[in-house]
Amino acid sequence: MNVLAIESSCDETSVSIIKDGSEEISTVILSQMDTHANYGGVVPEIASRMHVENITIVIDEALKKANMNMDDIDAFAVTYGPGLIGSLLVGLMAAKTLSFIYNKPLIPVHHIAGHIYANNLVKRLEFPLIALVVSGGHTELIYMKEDYSFEKLGGTLDDAVGEAYDKVARVINVPYPGGPLVDKLAFEGEDTYDLPIPLNDDSYNFSFSGLKSAVINLAHNEKQRGNEIIKENMACSFQNRVVEILVKKTMRALKDYGVKNLIVAGGVAANKGLRKGLTEACLEEEINLIIPEMKYCTDNAAMIGAAAYYAYKRGDKAGLDLNAKAVTELK
Ligand code: KG4
Ligand code: ZN
Repeated sequence: MNVLAIESSCDETSVSIIKDGSEEISTVILSQMDTHANYGGVVPEIASRMHVENITIVIDEALKKANMNMDDIDAFAVTYGPGLIGSLLVGLMAAKTLSFIYNKPLIPVHHIAGHIYANNLVKRLEFPLIALVVSGGHTELIYMKEDYSFEKLGGTLDDAVGEAYDKVARVINVPYPGGPLVDKLAFEGEDTYDLPIPLNDDSYNFSFSGLKSAVINLAHNEKQRGNEIIKENMACSFQNRVVEILVKKTMRALKDYGVKNLIVAGGVAANKGLRKGLTEACLEEEINLIIPEMKYCTDNAAMIGAAAYYAYKRGDKAGLDLNAKAVTELK
């Protein structure tokens, strides 16, 4: 089954053709990063307009790269949410139109299911598993008994971890996109700042706004004393606290649920500190850890095409009344 998948939930216009949920035939990603960098963050209105300008070009490109035409495609898949509503709508309208014209099924995919199934492009998922989803909009621990079954164990009570990274980056004067640069700086510095470990309790929930505020307050106090904070050290202290709590709660979830497989998903899965922390902990606890290659960590349509195959098997199919959802739980 060849699925042509579309992802446009934020600032990447991406189209991919995926065979049977695991074989990547072609992927095209058009990133708007350079444009949004001028504004220090994603500007939703600009993002939607750029998706409109590029979507048909990216679809054509993905087909050309695969050496295929629409006759070779069995179904269309699209991210329906969560994300920026204007951006989502562009991908959704394109997918609905294709499904209508070519009279082929339309498969709705939750963006986070996509991030999780990015791992299926690397290695077939083994169940039961725990998924740690860490992105600009999510920080969640999910238990999966089998394919396309999602039980949320806990999530962030305030900022998502990627969001906290981006905000801390701004405070320590690191340009957008902040996450990857803070990660890089963290390895150049030392853990010298006294920052709290956020929501260090028995739940599976996370909270990053307190940690973010602690960074802001420290930076502010130093400025009032006429000092500058040491960027590298602040990045290192911040990253260490984040990684500590993510690793601690993830390892506890694995233990509590008697699960031996861990997958990490979402943009922050690219974080080198987190990769290192989880790799070490999983080695010690004999947990089978899968983290996608860097190219599958950030938004792409390949992950949507991979998830779509299993969504379809579960019976997920949409009609032309499918609507975009800015906020929606993974079910
Ligand atoms: O999954 P993603 O591409 O988009 C969302 O669905 O949110 O994740 C983007 C987020 C951004 O907040 C970005 O700063 C963060 O992932 N990110 C990182 C790293 N690479 C991307 N955060 C920390 N360290 C990184 N290496
Ligand atoms: Zn994402």
